Amino acid sequence: MSARNSDLNALNPYLHGPYAPVREEVSIDQLRVKGEIPKDFAGAYYRNGPNPKKTPSGMHHWFDGDGMVHAIFFEDGKASYRNRYIRSKDFLADEKNQLRRSGIFNKAVSDGSSTVYKNTANTDLIMHAGELMALWYISGKPVRLDAKTLETVGEDDFQGALPKNVSAHSKVDSTSGDLLFFDYALYEPWYSFGVVDKHNQLQHFTQIELPGPRLPHDMAITENYAIFMDLPVVFTEQGLRQKVWAIHEDKNLPTRFGILPRYASGKKIRWFEFSGCYIYHVINAWEEGDEVILYCCKMIENGLDMPIQYGPYAPMVNVLALRAVVTKWTMNMRTGESREEQIDDAISEFPVVNLEFAGKKSRFSYHGAISNTETQLFDGILKYDLSSGSSIRHGFGKNIFGSEPAFVPRLGSSEEDDGYVVSFVTNAETNCSSVLILDARDLARPPLAEVILPNRVPLGFHGTWANLNQA
Ligand SMILES: [Fe+2]
Repeated sequence: MSARNSDLNALNPYLHGPYAPVREEVSIDQLRVKGEIPKDFAGAYYRNGPNPKKTPSGMHHWFDGDGMVHAIFFEDGKASYRNRYIRSKDFLADEKNQLRRSGIFNKAVSDGSSTVYKNTANTDLIMHAGELMALWYISGKPVRLDAKTLETVGEDDFQGALPKNVSAHSKVDSTSGDLLFFDYALYEPWYSFGVVDKHNQLQHFTQIELPGPRLPHDMAITENYAIFMDLPVVFTEQGLRQKVWAIHEDKNLPTRFGILPRYASGKKIRWFEFSGCYIYHVINAWEEGDEVILYCCKMIENGLDMPIQYGPYAPMVNVLALRAVVTKWTMNMRTGESREEQIDDAISEFPVVNLEFAGKKSRFSYHGAISNTETQLFDGILKYDLSSGSSIRHGFGKNIFGSEPAFVPRLGSSEEDDGYVVSFVTNAETNCSSVLILDARDLARPPLAEVILPNRVPLGFHGTWANLNQA
């Protein structure tokens, strides 16, 4: 490593401390547990995130690290852990030093496929058709993983039927087992939507017209509709010409939500317009009569000073601080009326719900509580009652930071919040990680159990829960 590289990496906070990558892949059974794992608790908690396998050379964005899944499996009151790299085609090519594409601080490279940057599949995880699917925020080929071993099965193109890519935060309907996915790109077609059934067969595909290339991060589903976002964060003309990742917020543009019947042509989309804002993550959406209700974490003004001590990484650090508040949008499909309401002013992000209620009317959501620090750190979990806007908080304690949580329904439960909330946590002082099991109905109380991990789990992106007996 050159001196300049070493200096550059030293300035990047997302390569150090609780973010520092781990490179060892391990499988460990019979983990030590403080407290007792509930008897009506079984399945697996997975979390994706960036773990650059090679020491970064040149500018390195936190979003660019090779995908790695960390998972903890619970059965009969015992817990086991394993972690594996996501071996996308680009990961394998990079191992052989044959990859021409790189991360978003570098020029986009097209080699005939539609991928312009290295597909790390490091962003999101969903369970569909009996396997895990690792997804990437820029939209790439989805990577299938064995849900029990985490070994990479391979990239999936839905038996040759996938026209291009699948974005992170595509959604699975827990009732039908369908995957509703979106794809977006810097170059036309800018936005597409598809439905893949529970047998992994593509059933529907259509294009969504937009005024230009956009940067949507999430979508929502309801019983009858898919909801898409046209947000005022856009690629710059110069960036597109020079094939570099350059985005900016256009204050003249609105935020629009497009509502489309699940199996309709994109031409049938109905757009609702609101004042401009950026949104990373949807909480949930559903229908109430003629109205479509959408809850998201809405980004508000950052308000933080540019952290110049990070040198060339200051803008990245500033953007990743994530300042968002729970917000509700209501859109009437009959009258066209709409309204927006801020539900609370607490800062939170990475919201999850009981996955059985995704796309259905729900009351509770669980969010990473964002600490007032320069880098992105969750110092607790907030449980929201969306019907009242009230929340309760479980704080992790001094210098302990968490991951996106998952809600785990108690075996045999039928009520929405009858279950547990799990999260990986890492102590930034001791470098030790564990998994907390919290009582979802009494979130503020101490954990029911803490599973001690033998190795650190770096802070990362999204996770999911699967009851493997039902997978
Ligand atoms: Fe995300």
